[in-house]
Amino acid sequence: MIKKEYLIAPSILGADFSKLKEEILMLNETKAQWVHLDIMDQQFVPNLSFGPAVVKSIRPHTDLFFDVHLMVSNPFDLIKPFIEAGANGISFHIEASEPRFTFPPKILIGQIKKAGLKCGIALKPKTPISVLKKYLTLIDYVTLMSVEPGFGGQRFIESSLQKIQNLKSLLKEMNVEKQVRIQVDGGVITNNALHCIESGADILVVGSEIFQSKNPKDVIDNLISLQ
Ligand code: DX5
Ligand code: ZN
Repeated sequence: MIKKEYLIAPSILGADFSKLKEEILMLNETKAQWVHLDIMDQQFVPNLSFGPAVVKSIRPHTDLFFDVHLMVSNPFDLIKPFIEAGANGISFHIEASEPRFTFPPKILIGQIKKAGLKCGIALKPKTPISVLKKYLTLIDYVTLMSVEPGFGGQRFIESSLQKIQNLKSLLKEMNVEKQVRIQVDGGVITNNALHCIESGADILVVGSEIFQSKNPKDVIDNLISLQ
């Protein structure tokens, strides 16, 4: 069987914030390639995390790809500060463009891409993938949430596997399966990671399982050699 390529993206929301630098240095010694940075504004989600200053302070300690996941009502105002802080990729929630928080997603995508970053669109578990259709030729990845966004350590929603498969089919149908990667975010652990990969996921975000382990490097090693 041909092995499928996939990336592990440790989510530092699961880390001990009092030793973020050590955690980042630890990631440098693993085969993880992306770092997942969850930004929450206590409006789009019922939780508050951290801002660009934190991203900027860890940036000098690693060359890993910084993927900023904006779980905020107004992504517009945050694009520039996160680019300046050293983000390599930014994803925003398509649900945030609902009338209440009007912004045109295409403008946002343009801003992110123009700065030379990768751009992703994130979807809550109940949002249908059909909303992505008009943007799939413009973006680099889709972040499919497999828990309700807001908190780490939640249980993986099983129906997400079907959603990954459906998205994979849609990417094929639209002839963009080579340029758009599927990221799965929330509740991903060693026990369900292979199912995610087999369903079509290319990037696995893993928070609590890595950072709450006594041997985070072993967890990452395991996740990388599942196939
Ligand atoms: C949830 C966040 C996730 C979270 C994943 O709102 O978007 O990125 O950090 O953490 P675990 O792996 O603990 O579900
Ligand atoms: Zn996330």
